[in-house]
Amino acid sequence: MDPKLLEKLEEEMKTIHLKMGEIQGIMLPESTIDIWEKICNFQAREDDILIATYPKAGTTWMQEIVDLIMLNGDVEKSMRAPCFIKVPFIDLNAKPMVSGVDAADVMESPRLIKTHFPIQLMPPSFWEKNVKVIYVARNAKDCMVSYFYFQRMNKGLPDPGTWNEYFSAFTAGNVPWGSWFDHVIGWWKAKDEHQILYVFYEDMIEDPRREIRKISKFLGKELTEEVLDIIQHHTSFNAMKENPMTNFSVLPSFVFDQSVSSFIRKGKVGDWKNHFLVTQNTLFDEVYKKRMEGSGLNFRTEL
Ligand code: A3P
Repeated sequence: MDPKLLEKLEEEMKTIHLKMGEIQGIMLPESTIDIWEKICNFQAREDDILIATYPKAGTTWMQEIVDLIMLNGDVEKSMRAPCFIKVPFIDLNAKPMVSGVDAADVMESPRLIKTHFPIQLMPPSFWEKNVKVIYVARNAKDCMVSYFYFQRMNKGLPDPGTWNEYFSAFTAGNVPWGSWFDHVIGWWKAKDEHQILYVFYEDMIEDPRREIRKISKFLGKELTEEVLDIIQHHTSFNAMKENPMTNFSVLPSFVFDQSVSSFIRKGKVGDWKNHFLVTQNTLFDEVYKKRMEGSGLNFRTEL
């Protein structure tokens, strides 16, 4: 990265990024809210592919899988740039870098686009253009743990405080991008009206090959067994942890401090058991039951 740009970025990180505001009751970075009109007016294209997730659900993993499907398993091409450059994040406005919407605007089709917005905050052009969406959902308990570590290492987000404090904040939906419950339910309901493939992180861990096949079918791509082998291997946890294009090691530590926690951290189903106290688990299960009742959604918290 250009040293001057880095210097400016470091200065911005200290001031703007940490500030959070709200849009329709959803906590978002103030820098995102600053360009809200521009985000709402974002022009999707018919051949875009949108990867939508609640933070920490496996976004980066899905990005890499879809990129490789579109490239028919060409690993060299998939290494053309870091994942956050290849796939613009339309929610992000991290000055002095170009915003996600500006980066997407100048990108050639077919574009892969990332968002963490809950369904009600989506720019309408995605629905007008009938864009294909892959939504990745991950069980709430593992999401909470992963987000806790992420908020500690991502210097653009507020410090999460103690685990106890974070448990309460997450359960109440007082975290960036809002409530996990509303997010997963909102996108689940939307799949009946739009072209949305709803994928579970736990299914991807259980049988990545099956899920890659499902995704490629949704995208209208036929993959040979050989290409499937390549994609499965290149998007495995260990391969992505070692790959500088996917492990965020190209970002300076004043953005992502990986000495606090790695971006590609554990990649497990059930890590919550190492963090939830028995009392927290009981409390969370009660809230969960109330919030998820009648949603038709079933998550696995262990395999
Ligand atoms: P953990 O913190 O539980 O390890 P996102 O990309 O949405 O921010 O999600 C990050 C989470 O996905 C992290 O979870 C990360 O380790 C996990 N992850 C990333 N790549 C993965 C892969 N190839 N296989 C399994 N998990 C992966």
